Amino acid sequence: SPPAIIAPSILSADFAILGKECSDTISQGADWLHIDIMDGHFVPNMTFGAPVVTKIRPHVERPAGAYGRGTFDCHMMIAEPKRWVRDFQKAGCDLYCFHYEAAISSTAADTPSGVSSSQTSPRELIKFIHELGMQAGIAIKPKTSVDVLWDILESPVEAERPDMVLIMTVEPGFGGQSFMASELPKVSALRAKYPELHIEVDGGLSGKTIDQAADAGANVIVAGSAVFGAKDPAEVIAKLREAVEK
Ligand code: DX5
Ligand code: ZN
Repeated sequence: SPPAIIAPSILSADFAILGKECSDTISQGADWLHIDIMDGHFVPNMTFGAPVVTKIRPHVERPAGAYGRGTFDCHMMIAEPKRWVRDFQKAGCDLYCFHYEAAISSTAADTPSGVSSSQTSPRELIKFIHELGMQAGIAIKPKTSVDVLWDILESPVEAERPDMVLIMTVEPGFGGQSFMASELPKVSALRAKYPELHIEVDGGLSGKTIDQAADAGANVIVAGSAVFGAKDPAEVIAKLREAVEK
């Protein structure tokens, strides 16, 4: 498996001092920052957009290479994911992770003809993200079958293949929900076929649930409330890492 990557979700940080929260979590041993972007449409909650990412970027040193420490892992829980790729690249996003469900759903919101310019195939979108110099991730919600991913992972065109798959272990929208172990067979199925793929799990990860996720083969671990709610976040980060590495 690829190395353990611990990605605290800043959804549970104190937004009033976000820059400091971001640099603190990196000094406490985090690898990436998991940045949850919600539009109140794809999910029933809102967070923030590219301007906030721009402002926190100077607080965290840019990663030396792909997947390095300080990677901004932007989890785009938004409709029309293609529309925001350029803005997030400019803001300092390193890994743009969109939802499969959002990419395939058509929306008539942005053209007079009713044909959306933003509807896009996942493969095209991955290629576009790569063209802008970012890593590409594809996320699926609990109700989406892992089977939708095989074709995308097997694309004959390398630039159309994702660098990471995100298996949601809660319904996206809120921090602090209970971990859904029912989603782990998706992780095992992916890991069996792709020993080197970055597989991220997100939602309800903590010292209590990490072993199951690690055993299934996840290597990128998102944790929001477990890290930012802890008395000793460094200890939680170290424990999560140890569980994945063991
Ligand atoms: C949920 C978000 C998660 C969330 C996880 O929609 O995608 O990243 O912050 O929070 P916890 O770790 O508290 O479940
Ligand atoms: Zn997330």
